[in-house]
Amino acid sequence: MTTVVVVGSGIAGLTAALHAHEAGCRVTVVTKGALVDTNTRWAQGGIAAVTDPDDTVASHAADTITAGAGLNDPDAVDVLVGEGPARIAELVARGVGFDRTADGDFSRGLEAAHAVARVLHAGGDATGAAIQAALGDAVRAAGIPVREHALLRDLVIEDGRVTGIELADGERLTADAVVLATGGAGQLYAHTTNPLGATGDGIAAAIRAGAAVADLEFVQFHPTALAAGAPFLVSEAVRGEGAVLIDDAGRRFAFDAHPDGELAPRDVVARANARAMAAQDGHPVRLDATALGPERLARRFPTIDAAVRERGLDWAHVPIPVTPAAHYLMGGVVTDLDGRTTVPGLYAVGETARTGVHGANRLASNSLLEGAVFGARAGDAAARDRDWPVAPAVPARPAPVAVDTDAPAFSRSALQRLMWDDAGLVRDAAGLDRAAATLAAWRSPGRLSAVEDDNLLLVATHVVDAARARTGSVGAHYRSDAVQPASIPAPSEVLAC
Ligand code: SIN
Repeated sequence: MTTVVVVGSGIAGLTAALHAHEAGCRVTVVTKGALVDTNTRWAQGGIAAVTDPDDTVASHAADTITAGAGLNDPDAVDVLVGEGPARIAELVARGVGFDRTADGDFSRGLEAAHAVARVLHAGGDATGAAIQAALGDAVRAAGIPVREHALLRDLVIEDGRVTGIELADGERLTADAVVLATGGAGQLYAHTTNPLGATGDGIAAAIRAGAAVADLEFVQFHPTALAAGAPFLVSEAVRGEGAVLIDDAGRRFAFDAHPDGELAPRDVVARANARAMAAQDGHPVRLDATALGPERLARRFPTIDAAVRERGLDWAHVPIPVTPAAHYLMGGVVTDLDGRTTVPGLYAVGETARTGVHGANRLASNSLLEGAVFGARAGDAAARDRDWPVAPAVPARPAPVAVDTDAPAFSRSALQRLMWDDAGLVRDAAGLDRAAATLAAWRSPGRLSAVEDDNLLLVATHVVDAARARTGSVGAHYRSDAVQPASIPAPSEVLAC
């Protein structure tokens, strides 16, 4: 019987685990927090898929490729949008109660850069929590063992292939196949919508194991994180329902950047926000949702409504402060369409993977779908594969600078500030060179949290190397020292919120 270890317990990991288990594998899920401590659980807006007879997979594909600035792998896009409806049906069968209209049809939300309303949601804005709960229940019901509070230290490689994982406490778990589903690395940045656990653990372990990574320069910044209290996402779906962005003077500025205004692609709106903030001494811009009214805000967005009110804000009557924040990593561990990496026996899914599906910028609400679609494919492949094939070779990125053990220790907050200032929403050669030199001079601080900090340092080095190598602007990678098309807003200083 094939033994599969899945590292990570969000939608991608649990879907892979369920598929491998249902295909007859002996599966163990390993996660560094509790089963529910995932980025999936935080997802608000929903999951994009074609479920309306008036919608088409061609339209969803076109929107995905437009948002991705055309750098998407078209085969990966076809898989994502083509298999999306089947994965939605699977989620429903596993118990996800998507919101419905009075006549029983799915309730579909509109989000930026979608031609039509196709974003399914649950509990209003608690879509990720509903999916996390249903998949967690399914994993428990299937009897799949879950090792919680078990932090991945490294992959075990023998004779050129993965044979298991080593945990931070030194314990080893052997496996025929390892699926990395550890999410992204939002904690690289001083401002992020991601939870504390988003430290790039799987990506870093894959790099150390010699797996190819790509597209790490493509970091998506969400336009609207709440700029009051602890970091908190204010879903794009709020703008989809009609909320608008205003500056200190009360002026709607998003149309200066793009004819679709607040519903332009995410990177365009994020830069428009940063530009408006720079013009008002770094004060956050405001999201004005007052036109939606208290009843609709509370019913459609109960999670955000509660978070806003906890912070003493009354968004039904007063616009709320928002700021861009790191949200999603388009790049990651290079995989084929079945999650296979360039290391035999190693698979990667979800935000950890780079399938090429998102190109230079992910379309809103395609991330949960990615986890469901490619998680299923990787689970099936891990069960099916016998000779442990690998993904095709990809162009190699520059090798990261080796860490000097006599170098000064760094703090995570210093790394996050460096990345925010010099490798963030707007980059240029001078800042990236500065970041590269600083990162190269740092070493891990050697504290209890050193595994995660090591991972952040390694991933940061690769992000900066990739950003230095791509000298033009495309999608989420915006270089202020590149020649810009007229439709892209002028470079702006990104200020702290
Ligand atoms: C949001 O709800 O705005 C985020 C959804 C996504 O990341 O696609």
